[in-house]
Amino acid sequence: MKKIWWKEAVAYQVYPRSFKDSNGDGIGDINGVTSKLDYIKDLGIDVIWLSPVYKSPNDDNGYDISDYQDIMAEFGTMEDFDRLLAEVHARGMKLIIDLVINHTSDEHPWFVESKSSKDNPKRDWYIWSDDPTNWESIFGGSAWEYDKETKQYYLHLFSKKQPDLNWENQEVRKALFDMVNWWLDKGIDGFRVDAISHIKKDLTDVFDPEQKLYAPAWEKMMNVKGIQPLLAELRDRTLANRDIMTVGEANGVHVGDIEEWIGEKDGKFNMVFQFESLGLWDTDERTGINVPKLKEVLTRWQKGVEGKGWNALFIENHDKPRVVSTWGNDKEYWRESATAIACMYFFMQGTPFIYQGQEIGMTNAPFAELDHYNDIQTHNLYHNNLAGGMAHEAIMTLLGAKSRDHSRTPMQWDASFNAGFTDAWPWLMINPNHNKINVAAQQQDPRSVLSFYKQMIWLRKQMAVLVYGTYELYDVGHEAVYAYTREDENEKVLVVSNLAQFACDWDAPEDATLLLANYEDMDSTQLLPYEARVYKLTK
Ligand code: GLC
Ligand code: CA
Repeated sequence: MKKIWWKEAVAYQVYPRSFKDSNGDGIGDINGVTSKLDYIKDLGIDVIWLSPVYKSPNDDNGYDISDYQDIMAEFGTMEDFDRLLAEVHARGMKLIIDLVINHTSDEHPWFVESKSSKDNPKRDWYIWSDDPTNWESIFGGSAWEYDKETKQYYLHLFSKKQPDLNWENQEVRKALFDMVNWWLDKGIDGFRVDAISHIKKDLTDVFDPEQKLYAPAWEKMMNVKGIQPLLAELRDRTLANRDIMTVGEANGVHVGDIEEWIGEKDGKFNMVFQFESLGLWDTDERTGINVPKLKEVLTRWQKGVEGKGWNALFIENHDKPRVVSTWGNDKEYWRESATAIACMYFFMQGTPFIYQGQEIGMTNAPFAELDHYNDIQTHNLYHNNLAGGMAHEAIMTLLGAKSRDHSRTPMQWDASFNAGFTDAWPWLMINPNHNKINVAAQQQDPRSVLSFYKQMIWLRKQMAVLVYGTYELYDVGHEAVYAYTREDENEKVLVVSNLAQFACDWDAPEDATLLLANYEDMDSTQLLPYEARVYKLTK
């Protein structure tokens, strides 16, 4: 087995706005991240993925970029970024950054020019049309915005302040590739590539008055035929022949597509974030997780990618509510469910990603009013549902389960008034449970969620089988228990997680050594609610 650093790495996602405020304006910033690098290193992290810090008017919190080669003033300066990069490297870690190239901000000079007149040389850098289609934006409403001055519509798959770039235009690609190489030359260690399965559009649709006014058009704007040559050009002109790590955000990419996306021969990225297990969240978020479905999806990816590419493992990010509140039980079994779900995904074959706060079991927040939410998608969801006739209370309940802001509340460093995040009024409410759930309290406690994460990371680094070994689903005769083995020539490990809030019968394997557990007193005939264990089996 060829050893590859990004396969052995454990990655940690930082959402800078909510991580640590260094200058008392209530907004997390780059120097704040730098000040917490020892914490991240101590956790055992090898790679940090930093969500966007580029210059941006913040319509979508930095995912709407107005200058790719400058830093958002609220976050600091390019010197701050360079220092962050140097400090990450000084600690033996790597830094990958978000690459948002499906769209820019409408305040990007390219779009300002493009919009200025129909015959501007950059008109064709974005997607303009006389006839909009019925496409719905991913953030709700029409995906087309009318420009009164030039009397045409432009396409925006996300917010109307995020116009889509026209990847069919060679000059656009060249400008993007130059920018990507500029960052790589600076010495960053790779990219998480945002919304990359959307860069190719099938624009043959026409407006259909018989259809719903706006309808999702996934098959026309996600992993569309013809996307591969564009991705290959991105790879060949920027990413290739560099010792970097790339992970594409790949909605609509299925196991059958992996040779082209992440295959060792013809892949365009090292790995992708697949969306199939995220789909389970949307349907099951208020009833816990459907374990049989989860097993089916994750096993399909584990076996489908094996020997061909590499998986990115994750259960949280800045676009989803907190996993302990959706898949787990953030009340009676908060610690147990946070650790059992962690154990379930962390030891699969792939590179594990941890989203900030996940390692201390941060939960969804009790947002009481619409005004307490910040996220554009959340506000659009509210207004579109209201217009559609849904009652205020019902929408608030929906947002209480689903909003992206649940994962964006500030990091809970300690029990003090502002959770050690800031001295000022925070940009987004701090979860009141920070008096119990916080880093400082958990660092002292060997049984905390944080200590469990440290043990998992430590264990993965001790055993090559946990990185490179093959995965097999292991049937313990109970639907709610997710069990699997990892095996290589030398070793075999069994990972068992009861993902239900009731006890399950089970037979502990004989001749097995316990490596890790989230309960202290263990029974060999049953698993308690959300009990998780990792065993080394004799081969
Ligand atoms: C990705 C990001 C999300 C953002 C969207 C548009 O899905 O993860 O936060 O809103 O792309 O850039
Ligand atoms: Ca700040």
